[in-house]
Amino acid sequence: MNETTTGMLRDNALKGKTIIITGGGTGLGKSMGTYFLKLGANLVITSRKLDVLKQTATEMEAETGGKVLAVACDVRKYDEVENVLKQAIETFGRVDALVNNAAGNFISPTERLSANAFSSIIDIVLKGSVNCSLALGKYWIAEKIPGTILNIITTYAFTGSAYVVPSACAKGGVLALTRSLAAEWGRHGIRTNAIAPGPFPTKGAWDRLLPGDMIEKFDFKNRVPLKRMGEHQELANLAAFLVSGFSGYINGEVITIDGGEWLQGAGQFNALEMVPAAMWDSIEQATRKA
Ligand code: HXC
Ligand code: NAP
Repeated sequence: MNETTTGMLRDNALKGKTIIITGGGTGLGKSMGTYFLKLGANLVITSRKLDVLKQTATEMEAETGGKVLAVACDVRKYDEVENVLKQAIETFGRVDALVNNAAGNFISPTERLSANAFSSIIDIVLKGSVNCSLALGKYWIAEKIPGTILNIITTYAFTGSAYVVPSACAKGGVLALTRSLAAEWGRHGIRTNAIAPGPFPTKGAWDRLLPGDMIEKFDFKNRVPLKRMGEHQELANLAAFLVSGFSGYINGEVITIDGGEWLQGAGQFNALEMVPAAMWDSIEQATRKA
């Protein structure tokens, strides 16, 4: 068995739960949603492009036998978020979990950005996550439902990153949202956690972050101590655990799943990995002499 591509949780681990995933029609949202369905959940997927959502919903239902509601929504608009919640309740009776996965991003020197370009990313990532969390939180508190929020952030939410500054600011904000809501809404039984993924290939991210031949020049694999990128199922396993009751005492946590990538970038001497093994004898002699 290859554990990296195999579902981890027991059958029916999410049976009876209804989960909303923003940006659920593509990429990692689609992979997480497919696994949630396999575990018995009802799924609501939402993003701006209804045709993409409908196509994904059809594929997911055929693959898993589960039920998927596809609703168009721009997470920047609170009334559209409220409409998703309304339709989800009408269809499935209640909602148990929210995955804030929708995002916008592209690489650019910051000084080349218009104010609107910067705001667009902040609005999708930070304001969108706030809008969805607020709508769901109000509903859960009023209905006394112990809901759970899972935010998909990035490792540069901790470190910052050049060339994706709007995204770094926004994801840093979502990390603060995660910890703040965990502390405030825990008393209502609402848990809020985050996942910080390293590189998991998707079309949406790769087209905007590694366009053209950058894919050869900037190979993410070389940045990761494990020398590979993530498998979508590995992320889906972690996400399913965090939205399930099996993680019931985890609240306010951010779990990194990046093969050690961000620490590799952080350690001052980590680049010594490039020293060939044969050179270490002479280096040792030199350091002993010193
Ligand atoms: C500079 C740009 C730009 C670019 C857009 N803009 N692309 N500026 N360089 N490449 C500017 C526009 O000119 C405009 O400013 C403003 O940004 C808004 O652009 P619109 O196209 O009107 O916005 P919108 O239709 O809302 O599209 C949002 C988007 C787009 C973010 C620009 O790329 C998108 O829809 N993305 C969704 C999917 C996505 O990004 N997925 C990747 C997530 S990856 P002006 O001033 O002209 O009006 C991720 C992972 C990170 O987050 C970690 C990976 C390892
Ligand atoms: P993706 O396929 O491009 O997913 C982004 C999704 O967000 C799309 O489905 C998009 O759909 C939706 N979206 C964008 N703007 C929206 C808006 N205003 N309202 C509603 N939905 C909107 O990219 P991905 O790689 O799967 O990324 C998923 C998440 O993982 C993101 O939060 C990203 O930051 C995070 N992440 C990814 C990686 C990676 O290596 N892939 C690494 C770290 C973190 P529409 O265009 O139809 O709206």
